[in-house]
Amino acid sequence: MRVAMIGTGYVGLVSGACFADFGHVVTCVDKDASKIEKLEAGIMPIFEPGLDSLVEKNVKEERLFFTTEAKDAIRDADAVFIAVGTPSRRGDGHADLSYVYAAAEEIAELMDGFTVIVTKSTVPVGTGDEVEEIIRKKRPDGEFAVVSNPEFLREGAAIKDFKIPDRVVVGTDDERAREVMQELYRPLFLNETPILFTARRTSELIKYAANAFLAVKITFINEMADLCEKVGANVQEVSRGIGLDGRIGKKFLNAGPGYGGSCFPKDTLALTKTANDHNSPVRIVDTVVEVNAARKKAMAEKVIAAMGGDVKGKTIGVLGLAFKQNTDDMRDAPSLDIIPALQAAGAKIRAYDPEAMDEAAHLLSDIEFAKSAYDAVQDADAMVIITEWDQFRALDFERIKEALSTNIVVDLRNIYSPDDMAARGFKYTSIGRPSI
Ligand SMILES: NC(=O)c1ccc[n+]([C@@H]2O[C@H](COP(=O)([O-])OP(=O)(O)OC[C@H]3O[C@@H](n4cnc5c(N)ncnc54)[C@H](O)[C@@H]3O)[C@@H](O)[C@H]2O)c1
Repeated sequence: MRVAMIGTGYVGLVSGACFADFGHVVTCVDKDASKIEKLEAGIMPIFEPGLDSLVEKNVKEERLFFTTEAKDAIRDADAVFIAVGTPSRRGDGHADLSYVYAAAEEIAELMDGFTVIVTKSTVPVGTGDEVEEIIRKKRPDGEFAVVSNPEFLREGAAIKDFKIPDRVVVGTDDERAREVMQELYRPLFLNETPILFTARRTSELIKYAANAFLAVKITFINEMADLCEKVGANVQEVSRGIGLDGRIGKKFLNAGPGYGGSCFPKDTLALTKTANDHNSPVRIVDTVVEVNAARKKAMAEKVIAAMGGDVKGKTIGVLGLAFKQNTDDMRDAPSLDIIPALQAAGAKIRAYDPEAMDEAAHLLSDIEFAKSAYDAVQDADAMVIITEWDQFRALDFERIKEALSTNIVVDLRNIYSPDDMAARGFKYTSIGRPSI
């Protein structure tokens, strides 16, 4: 199959490279010329484990191409994927669909012969109808079908998630489009991946329902963590105690500083807007949005309290800036709330992140970037873990102790054991577990 991928960001690039690796011929299109230049030079514009070698292999084998010019790619394609951003619209929190609609206009002009237009971007219910209308208006006789195929990959594990997904969801009632989608995902049929064919609107809603459900789960355990702190219980054991129940499941039960990233914050908000527009509010999600935003802000207070209630003039060594480990994505990262609040309270920040410092430099001001975790905490008055990178799990604590001017460690990801940290002589604060 010939595929055009409109939008070469986290989703478009990973999906494009994986489809190419399945054996299809894929052209990834992006308006951002600097991204395409980098890709043509073999440089990845994002950090995603394994992506560089996957791209290199498929470029070499002439199945993966990059361009800023959509024309040829769309004209020749059996399927054109829309994988552009759908950020929160400024002011009202609805999904901003301007990039999706602009892509639809462009596809309408350029498509040739029966074309399946696949929305991979996360879009509110009814967007497929809009996209169809935009294209139909421009090409009244055009032969095409608009399909919903939401993406569930996680940054940091994106290639594995794309190639070995829990499921693929395809929303269409067009038989020809169904055949094209089946052919595109044929390698997954062989692995017996469940492929759920459904109506387009249902498919669009599945994506939001999935993200909202996961956000509810995280927020639930975060509130349990707060309760644990008040009643002297341990949230990690509560998680294990409930997660072993097959009806609940173990995943997404790690208490932390509140969810961030490029999806949950905007998707939960967009779902509440859609629900309100249809006079069918999802109050549990409304609450989750509110609780999570407040939580991210409250984390700075937690750090300040652990440091004796005053951070004026003090230096804080921050480990981790990305919204989670194994990505350089800073969108809505908790660090973007926590660090400015600590700075407003008078603290100086020295931070280290293995991959996200370039991106963070555009979003945070007045911070000193360190060369390593040890460099970040040198002569600092506390060490604060914001992101759970594996390399922070196995630090040399003797070095940390020597470097720090106090013994204060605040761990917003619960990556260390309180007993172990106490035995090493640290004053250790974590989430939902007794402080020692
Ligand atoms: N990032 C994730 O983990 C993830 C996971 C699942 C779903 N999604 C969804 O996938 C969509 C894309 O997310 P992302 O994180 O890849 O976004 P991104 O911002 O990384 O990438 C979007 C890209 O589209 C390009 N673009 C915009 N309009 C264009 C046009 N008309 N022609 C060509 N290129 C154009 C931009 O330049 C940008 O490079 C969003 O709807 C998001 O919610 C993201």
